[in-house]
Order: sequence, then C-alpha cells, then structure tokens
Amino acid sequence: MKIVMINLFSIFLLIVTFQARAKEGKVTPALTQGEKIYVENCNMCHGKTGDGNGPVGKNLAPKPKHLKAYNAKQIIKILTDGNVSMMAHFKDSLSKAQKEAVAQYCEKTFSDK
Ligand code: HEC
Repeated sequence: MKIVMINLFSIFLLIVTFQARAKEGKVTPALTQGEKIYVENCNMCHGKTGDGNGPVGKNLAPKPKHLKAYNAKQIIKILTDGNVSMMAHFKDSLSKAQKEAVAQYCEKTFSDK
C-alpha cells in the first residue's frame, strides 16, 4: 500500500511539473524579445514596474510617465514620432519590429487599458 501511495505521489508531481512547463511555453518569442528591449532601453528610467522609478528615472524632472496609462499602439506612436523631453529618441535606434515588441511587452505588463 505504501509503495502504491508513493507511486501515485510521483505521478502527481510529474503532472504538476509538466503543467508548469506547459505554462512557461506560452510566452511568445515576441514578448521575450520585448522584455529584453525594455530592460536594455527603458528600464533605467521607467523602472521594473513601469512607474518611472528606475535608477535614472527617479532623479529626472519631469519624471517618466507611469506606463500603465498607455497601450501598445500609443507607445509605438511615441517611440516613432514622439518628441518627449528628457527621453531618448528611438525613431532610428529601434527597428519597427523592436518597437512593436517592446510596446506589446509594456501593454501586457503595465497597462491598465
Ligand atoms: C532617459 C530616460 C528615459 C528612457 C531611457 C526612456 N524614457 Fe520614456 N520617458 C522618460 C521621461 C522623463 C518621460 C516623461 C517626459 C515628459 O513628461 O515630458 C517619458 C515618457 C514616456 C512616455 C509617455 C510620453 C507621452 O508623450 O505621453 C512613454 C509611452 C514612454 N516614455 C515610453 C518609453 C519606452 C517604451 C522606452 C524604452 C524603449 C522609454 N520610454 C525610455 C524618460 C525615459
């Protein structure tokens, strides 16, 4: 009986592990790329939670806007033709695909829209 219980428990563990793996698999490649672009280009100012308290951002005046107020479309537009004081220009330094990826990441992670 004890052995049967242990076996059942192992099977249960296997299923739990498998489901956790399946969930991880849902992250789309574009999102992973978007997160990477965010960490490299935006995080220092907009911060981990998008609230503008990154190591550089918290000392800026005006402070970076909280990214929860923007959806992906608005972010792409700002990165493409925005003229934002204190913020680096990304018109040419990020490709169209990179802008889309980082905007999708911001919307998924921070936006309440
Ligand atoms: C050097 C610091 C800095 C970096 C790097 C930076 N930002 Fe900003 N960002 C700011 C500041 C400061 C503001 C607010 C400026 C203002 O209110 O005039 C801002 C504003 C914004 C806004 C709102 C603009 C508007 O007109 O409403 C968005 C959206 C945004 N940033 C997205 C990003 C994204 C996405 C990245 C990375 C690709 C990024 N920012 C990188 C400093 C930065």
